[in-house]
Amino acid sequence: MKPFTSQSSKGTLLIKCIKHNSAEYKDTVALRDVVLRKPLGLDFDPSDLDKESNSIHVACYLNDALAGCLILQPDDQRGLKMRQVAVSPECQGTGIGKAMVRYSEQYARENGYNKIHMHARDTAVPFYVGLGYSIEGEPFEEVTIPHRHMFKVLV
Ligand SMILES: CC(C)(COP(=O)(O)OP(=O)(O)OC[C@H]1O[C@@H](n2cnc3c(N)ncnc32)[C@H](O)[C@@H]1OP(=O)(O)O)[C@@H](O)C(=O)NCCC(=O)NCCS
Repeated sequence: MKPFTSQSSKGTLLIKCIKHNSAEYKDTVALRDVVLRKPLGLDFDPSDLDKESNSIHVACYLNDALAGCLILQPDDQRGLKMRQVAVSPECQGTGIGKAMVRYSEQYARENGYNKIHMHARDTAVPFYVGLGYSIEGEPFEEVTIPHRHMFKVLV
């Protein structure tokens, strides 16, 4: 899918798909570590990263500096599981998460997927609700913290 660019008072935003194991991908792993793992006292298992080779990797840059990333993992039912959504602490709350989710939805539509689903951290549930995602099922624990199953059917 084509990269997305926009201009704001903060500068130039660029969202694009990047290749697994590229230098850009390694930067996103470092960001995910800072935002998602270290605060929980956890580390990445290198074998987990190998399993991501078939996923779509999305990165967002503000003025050429990495500001956010996420992964889209295809399932076997024309759906994508959105994983590892991370915005750098200094950029949180500035619309980057929302722009990456919108980009992912467009990617899904253009590539024949009809649903995005995720295991959302409890603290991020209102973020996804604001983007039209619904909660399904009961709360559960993952990486030591409460999560909810959430999904959106794309039209
Ligand atoms: C959750 C996260 C991805 C959201 O991205 P972001 O760039 O900070 O969010 P945005 O600025 O795009 O916010 C979009 C909207 O959601 C709201 N929002 C963002 N995070 C929220 C939260 N945790 N709770 C409630 N509302 C939230 C914003 O206020 C904004 O509302 P508006 O459109 O009415 O102004 C990001 O804050 C983050 O990386 N958090 C830490 C890691 C994490 O929790 N990842 C998700 C794992 S499931």
